[in-house]
Amino acid sequence: MQTRVVPVEETSNQIIDEAANLIRSGQLVAFPTETVYGLGANAFDAVAVEGIFKAKGRPATDPLIVHISAPECLDQVAVEIPDVAYKLIVVFWPGPLTLILKRHHQITPVVSAGLATVAVRVPAHPVALALLKAAAVPIAAPSANLFAHTSPTTAAHVLEDLGGRIPLILDGGPTTVGVESTIIDLTATRPRLLRPGGVAYDAIAKHLPDLEVVRRFVDPEEVVEAPGTLLKHYSPRAAVQLFDGSDSKVRLAIARTAEALLADGKRVGLLIAEEDRAALSDLAVPTVVLGSVSDLRQIARRLYGGLRSLDDFGVETILARTYPSEGIGLAIRDRLIRAAQGHIHSID
Ligand code: TXA
Ligand code: MG
Repeated sequence: MQTRVVPVEETSNQIIDEAANLIRSGQLVAFPTETVYGLGANAFDAVAVEGIFKAKGRPATDPLIVHISAPECLDQVAVEIPDVAYKLIVVFWPGPLTLILKRHHQITPVVSAGLATVAVRVPAHPVALALLKAAAVPIAAPSANLFAHTSPTTAAHVLEDLGGRIPLILDGGPTTVGVESTIIDLTATRPRLLRPGGVAYDAIAKHLPDLEVVRRFVDPEEVVEAPGTLLKHYSPRAAVQLFDGSDSKVRLAIARTAEALLADGKRVGLLIAEEDRAALSDLAVPTVVLGSVSDLRQIARRLYGGLRSLDDFGVETILARTYPSEGIGLAIRDRLIRAAQGHIHSID
């Protein structure tokens, strides 16, 4: 199959109608959201949604997120919606917050891997919203990457992973958030953070004082104790070694590890912050500088692209540092820990 990549400059573009027709006829379309690119199919159509799993090589046991154009469409997707959901929706939609609710029977169970629940959000991206409105059906869409690979933040990333497998990629330029949505489960007795993401934990906790957090998101000790419980996810091809501790010790440890690997004839790359650059410039290895530690939003925006470009250099090992866990930093930390498959070198 030939994959077309079409730039979408204005949302009234006829390509939106073409994409909407593809969705309505059971085909797949990749489209930009503010977080990462999604691979969309009509959420009412079981066969179309099965196509997403096939194209990604994703196990049918991993449920997808349903996207809608406005909160008014929520009744087509979920039932028995608790009041607390509307409290969050008013503040955070459109935006990178996904809610887990009870699934409406119209939404094919294939979307939810057979669960009685469904994940849903309104994305804050003009192209995504235009597509959702034109298609006039909820669109199930996971990140548009091959299963367990790094999520795509540009149309070129999508093409790299899914070229030849889908008919159309809408190119809306690089995404602005860069990491996936925050997921909150509202179907248990207490609301629970399932995945940190584009909306900061603190911002949600203000509205949900009883929000429960899985401890490994915040406490590195928890991660080291139970690396086996982490699904390999969000990973580049190269192995990632993650260093956590004071800045000067982390830089020293990265330099020593790089030297040892180079002496062993290994190809090494660095994923670092602006502040680390001077201390590590002597290494002369492929290096991606994500930005300043004082601007975590920029770090998040560049994170996945940085991992992919180090893969393009053909490095076998990526040495990376952790970031403070405030704001979007919690999501950055979570994705880096997953990329490193749970292994952190704690240096202090
Ligand atoms: O920002 C995002 O959320 C992006 C864009 C495209 O919207 N989407 C995304 O989808 O990251 P995906 O498929 O890569 O991640 C969806 C995750 C699943 O892996 C699962 O952890 C969770 O959402 N999920 C979906 N439905 C669920 C359910 N019913 N119960 C619990 N978790 C669910
Ligand atoms: Mg994904």
